[in-house]
Amino acid sequence: MTTHKKRSLTGLRATGNLHLGNYLGAMKPALELSKTYDCVYFIADLHALTSNRTPELLTKQTFDHLATWLALGLDTDKHILFRQSDVREHTECMWFLSCVTNLGLLEKSHAFKDALAQGADVNHGLFAYPVLMAADILLYNADVVPVGKDQKQHVEIARDIAGAFNAIYGDVFKLPEPVIQEEVMIIPGLDGRKMSKSYGNEIAFLCEEKELRKKLMSLKTDSTGLEEPKALKGSLVGDLFTLFGTPSQFADLEGRLAKGGMGWGHAKEELFNVINEHVREIRERYVELRADEPFLRATLAKGAEKARAIAGPTIERVRHAVGIR
Ligand code: ADP
Ligand code: TRP
Repeated sequence: MTTHKKRSLTGLRATGNLHLGNYLGAMKPALELSKTYDCVYFIADLHALTSNRTPELLTKQTFDHLATWLALGLDTDKHILFRQSDVREHTECMWFLSCVTNLGLLEKSHAFKDALAQGADVNHGLFAYPVLMAADILLYNADVVPVGKDQKQHVEIARDIAGAFNAIYGDVFKLPEPVIQEEVMIIPGLDGRKMSKSYGNEIAFLCEEKELRKKLMSLKTDSTGLEEPKALKGSLVGDLFTLFGTPSQFADLEGRLAKGGMGWGHAKEELFNVINEHVREIRERYVELRADEPFLRATLAKGAEKARAIAGPTIERVRHAVGIR
C-alpha cells in the first residue's frame, strides 16, 4: 500500500565542489527530513548549464554529487535520488509553465538582479531558472521544499507560477512550502563572509585531511598575542566549532582560551579535529563509492525510473489540462 507521508523535494545544482556550507545548509537538513517525509532528491545538472560550459566538468560534478548523497547515507530504496536531465518531463513542463509566467515575476528574482548588477553573462537560461525550478517541484506534487534562505524566493515564485496555472486550467498543481532551517542559516567561510564558491573562501566538504587542516589554519583571526585571553564566542573559529563540536567541547575550549596562554593556532587544531572526526567515515565511504562508476550509473537509472513514475502522470494531467488531448 502507498504511504501517507508528505513529500519533500530538493535539488542541488551540480556546480563546483561541495563545501561545508552546502553540506550544513542544504544536504544535512534535507537528509534529516527523510525521517518524516517521503523524499525526492535530485542533481540539478540542467540548472548547472546556465553557467557551466565544460562538458567534462558537468559529468564529473554530477557523479561527485551523487556519490556524496550516497556516502551521507541516503537510502535509495526508501527515497528517490535522480539526475534532473534523465527525466525529460522537467523541460517539457517548463514550457507549459513558461506560458503562464509573467515576465515581471522573473524580473523580481534576486538571483537574476544580482547577476545583472554584476554585469555577468545573463543568458535566457538564467532568467528562466525559476521556471525550470518550478517544474522540478510541481511535477512531484511536493508538499515541502527544504532550501537555503537564498532559494526561498525561488520556491515562492514556484508557488506563484502554480497558482497562475491553476487559476487558468483548474486545480492541477499542489502549492509547495519552503522549509528553512533557521539555526544553520549562513555558514561562514575562511574570511568570515558567507562561505561560497563565488568568494573563493570555501572549505571543500570531503577534501583530504591534509587540505582540511591547511584550510582551517588559514582561518581569519584577530591578532591578539599568544599570552592574551581570547574569546571563542563571536570568533570565526568559534562559529565553526559550534557547528561540529558538542556544547561541552565548546565550553572546554572556550575556558582554556579565556585563561590566556593559548594561541589561535591551537584552537584551530582542535577545530580541525572535531570537523575531521565528523567527516572521516563519510569521506571513506565517498572515496569507495566515487570509484564505482557502474554502481553510480545503475543508481541513476533506478532513480530516473522511480522519478518518471511520478512525473509522467503529472505531465499527462498538464497536457490534458491545456488541451493536448
Ligand atoms: P555557492 O554559494 O557556493 O555557489 P550554492 O549557491 O550552489 O553555493 O548553494 C547550494 C545550496 O547550499 C543552497 O541551498 C544554499 O542555500 C546552500 N549554501 C551554500 N552556501 C551556504 C552557506 N555558506 N551557508 C549555508 N548554506 C549554504
Ligand atoms: N536552485 C537551487 C539552487 O541553486 C537548486 C534547485 C533546482 C532546486 N531545482 C530545485 C532546489 C527544486 C529545490 C527544489 O540551489
